[in-house]
Amino acid sequence: MDKKLVVGNWKMNLLREEAREFSGTIADLLGEDYDACQVVLVPPYTALEVVGSRISGSTIDLGAQNVFGETSGAFTGEVSAPMLADAGCKWVIVGHSERRHILGETDEQIREKISISISCGLKAILCVGETEAQREEAIRRSEDVLTRKKLLFSPIKTQIESALDSLDQKQVSDIVIAYEPVWAIGTGKNATSLEIAEIHQYIRELLAEIFPGLGNNVRILYGGSVKTGNIVEIMSVEEVDGVLVGGASLSADSFFRIINSVGG
Ligand code: PGA
Repeated sequence: MDKKLVVGNWKMNLLREEAREFSGTIADLLGEDYDACQVVLVPPYTALEVVGSRISGSTIDLGAQNVFGETSGAFTGEVSAPMLADAGCKWVIVGHSERRHILGETDEQIREKISISISCGLKAILCVGETEAQREEAIRRSEDVLTRKKLLFSPIKTQIESALDSLDQKQVSDIVIAYEPVWAIGTGKNATSLEIAEIHQYIRELLAEIFPGLGNNVRILYGGSVKTGNIVEIMSVEEVDGVLVGGASLSADSFFRIINSVGG
């Protein structure tokens, strides 16, 4: 298993000058040789270049928040995987719930994005997670453990099976899965350690079923209202290999404290 991972997803925030300053602060705080965990900064497209140049020489990686499912062509407004690699990205987030639910991204589009990202040498962070209604429905049926589990796991099973459909075992090693319950994103309500452990264990079992022999090579992150106040509890869950952080990655102080908690 690779190092634990801390990914800061800035979403649609920070102008270039703010991004340059912020990424510089994080890079300076960590120092050139930081290696207790892998840190990835994921700015908006417009700030990729300034952040990339400010973190060059550090161990921090650059990532993008989205990618299009074709390598080039007449797709106005879209950005391709080769363009991201050319801009210095090593990572790309695919299937974030805001893209699935606000922008209507489908499992089919997510599969294309994953496949093209991996074939262009990017590492993809595939986001999966259930909505509040899906979790509530599973809880309503809790008198029967098997039904509860089936209902709870079903959206995650569909999202993972569909996204990884065209990949072979070797390619799957370039994937990281981020379990992000939709109801926990940006809401301040994080999943409990028991809830996280249950889903992470399920994801691990599912991966082993689809790719026998894969072992524990795929890191599974938790995301959804991760902050300084809950990072220790979240990282105490054995199955958690790192975190995807939104809001709390926009403050150098809280992001640095989260990184230190993960790095130990
Ligand atoms: P949040 O966002 O930490 O603000 O909940 C997480 C994410 O969207 O990845």
